Parts: sequence; structure tokens; C-alpha cells
Amino acid sequence: MTGERSDRYAAEVAWTDLLRGIVSIAGEERQLRSVLRQTARLVVAATGADACFVHVVDHDAREVVLMGATPDEFDELAGTIRLAFDEGVAGWVAEHGQPAVIDDKWSDPRYRYIPALRGEDFTSLVSVPLLRPPGVVVGVLNVHAHDVGHFAVDIVARLEEVASLLAGIVEAALLHEQLRVREEQLERFAARTIEMQELDRRRIAGDIHDGISQRLVSAWYHLRAAGSLTTEETISTELGLVDGLLSGALDEARRAITGLRPSILDDLGLTAALHSLAGSAGDFTVELDLQECDLPAHVETSIYRITQEALQNVVKHAGASSVELSLHASEDGGIVLTVGDDGVGFCPSSAAGPLSFGLSGMQERATLLGGNLHVRSGPGEGTTLCMRLPPSVLSGSPDDQLRF
Ligand SMILES: Nc1ncnc2c1ncn2[C@@H]1O[C@H](COP(=O)(O)OP(=O)(O)OP(=O)(O)O)[C@@H](O)[C@H]1O
Ligand SMILES: [Mg+2]
Repeated sequence: MTGERSDRYAAEVAWTDLLRGIVSIAGEERQLRSVLRQTARLVVAATGADACFVHVVDHDAREVVLMGATPDEFDELAGTIRLAFDEGVAGWVAEHGQPAVIDDKWSDPRYRYIPALRGEDFTSLVSVPLLRPPGVVVGVLNVHAHDVGHFAVDIVARLEEVASLLAGIVEAALLHEQLRVREEQLERFAARTIEMQELDRRRIAGDIHDGISQRLVSAWYHLRAAGSLTTEETISTELGLVDGLLSGALDEARRAITGLRPSILDDLGLTAALHSLAGSAGDFTVELDLQECDLPAHVETSIYRITQEALQNVVKHAGASSVELSLHASEDGGIVLTVGDDGVGFCPSSAAGPLSFGLSGMQERATLLGGNLHVRSGPGEGTTLCMRLPPSVLSGSPDDQLRF
């Protein structure tokens, strides 16, 4: 074999190894981070490049996030480097769904210098989108080399093949990850529900023992006493006491029951129940904008409980003077609930303490209904919770949904 032919042969082998390697990693690995790190290594080996970065697209935030890289020092930055669509070369590729081949990045206006990625060490670069049908970009593969013009046209075409293989793997790994997170949320929710039931049981036992039973025993005692009295006046005094004790016991029983279940939902409906919550919430004004919505009972219960917790948080933490509470149908036919206050605000990313269940419980309730709950807040900026539920909650039969 001539030198040129043997070089070509070696290059073919390297590409075949790369494709085989990716397929075998995908078969063995479920974790997205690990798949991407190993793929980046194989790409560098096959292309003779010096670094490879694999970004995953976060469609909600319209950002690309670095999730795997080689050399290892860059891989350690996974999850910390985010670029908006159209920011940097990877952002441009995510936005346009087309590859970018750059011989000298310093003369390309799309390039953005990120000190942690040591851009000064590399000059040429190829960036290809990871595309899934029908043209959805799920990630971006960036390959960098020290020298100018390292990447020949045929390398780019091959990287596109690699990218299309990787796109399916990334999509599957992301779905797997979403499933795992959802399963964890379900488990946490189930554990929390059992814990709350246990608390409720203890509370009811306490209410019955300390309140209702005591009053019944006293009433019984006074009734017996009345039986042995002879004058009408003393009998009626005893019966008056019994009357007071029994109506007290009845009040206690009602309180114990209403603490368990928002019976107001059955009596008056969701809108009136939210009016009533707002009216008794605390020392601030509540502006209401509530649209009548015909919702399944379990969805109403979740909306009621989330609003209740949100208002309790305003009372406990916000020091707010006014709150806006709105519930209405969204443009896509779903439901949007918003609770906003003008209080002290907080930093949502550092709020979840081990003894705080309110926000995570609200989030879990929203997720279990197929929706999401976002918290927008910052010190001195007030707090707004926004829960969005999909149109399917309107038609969902309570029998095939989780009830809580
Ligand atoms: N409306 C708000 N204004 C200011 N800070 C808030 C608000 N809502 C929540 N927070 C902050 O977020 C933290 C977490 O809230 P979360 O409801 O999860 O827990 P909690 O209210 O402290 O306890 P609980 O488990 O009883 O609800 C709070 O401790 C508080 O610091
Ligand atoms: Mg709370």
C-alpha cells in the first residue's frame, strides 16, 4: 500500500471505530453525561482534533448547555456553561440548525470567547447540529483544533453522520432522565402524602381526645346530674351546660373535618373557595381575577391546595402589602394560576431547606397533573408563582389520574 492509500485506510478505520464506538456506548450507558464524555473522546481520536464539546439544547430556556467534553478538564465544566440561542458558534448552530466550519475563529463574528474553555488554545472549529426529525436540534457537537483550517470538507460530512447518530442517543437519554426525575418526584410525593396522612391521623386523634371526648364526657356527667335533680330551675341550668358542651363538641368535630378536606370546594365551587381563602389570608390586600373554569375535582383540589400554600408563604415570609391572585384559561386551552406578591422576595435556587416542603409540594402537584410551576423572585423584588396546566387536565377522567 502507498503511504497515501494507507493514510486513507487508517482514516476509514478510525471513522468506522468511531461509529461502532458510539453505538456500543449507547448500548451500555444510560447516563447522558457519560455517553457524551466518551463520544467526545472518540471524536477527537478519529478527527485528529484537540478538543470536543457536546452541548445539549434546553428548549424551554432557549439555551445550549455543555454536557460532555474532552479533555477531562473541560468535561468537569458540564452543566455550568450555558449559551443563549444565537450566542457563540454553538448558539448560532442551535438557532439555525446548520453546521458551521470555521478555519480561524478569531475572524468569525459568531465566536464568543469563554475563558474557562481556553479559546486561545484552539483556532479552527467545526460545529454541527444534532438533528432529530422533523428538524429539531437536540444538541450541538463542537470540535476544535489548534491549527488553522484543520477540518477538510469530508470531515465535516462525516461529523454530520456522527451527529445524526448521536442525536437519537441524546434524545433517548434525555427522555430516560426525564422519566427518572418524574419517578423520583412521584416517590417523594407518595412519601410526603403518607407522612401528611399520618400527621392528619395524629391531629384528628388529638382533636377527638382533647376536645370532643372531653366535652362529651362533661355533657354526660351533667346529664346524669340533671337526672337526679328535682327543681326545674337547677335541671334547666344543667341542661343549658349540656347544650353548650354538645354544640362545642360539634364545632370541634367540624374543625377536625375541615382541616382534612376543603369541603368548601364541594359546597361552593373553586372560585368561591379561592375568594374565601383570599378573604381570610392575612394582613394584605388580595386582588382577584378569577375565571369560572369547569375542572375535574382532583384538579380543583390541587389548585386550592397550591393557592393555600402560596398564600401561607406570603403570610409567613413575604411581609407583603398586596397580592394578586388570578386563575384563567390559557391560550392553548389549558389553565394558568398566578399568585404574585410585592413582598421581600427570595432567591429560589437556594430556598429549598431540608424542612421546607411547601414549594416542592406545589411543584410536585403541578408535575403530577402534567403541568409545571415556575417561581420568579429575587431579594426585594416580590414573588410570583405561575402554574401552567395542559388542556388535557380539563378532559382527564379522575379515575385514570392520581388523586390527592
Ligand atoms: N412569597 C414568599 N416571599 C418570600 N419568601 C418566600 C416566599 N415563598 C417562599 N419563600 C422562601 O422560600 C422558602 C421555602 O418555602 P417553602 O414553602 O418550601 O417552605 P416553608 O414555608 O419555609 O415551610 P413549609 O414546609 O411549612 O411550607 C421559605 O422558607 C422562604 O424563605
Ligand atoms: Mg411554605
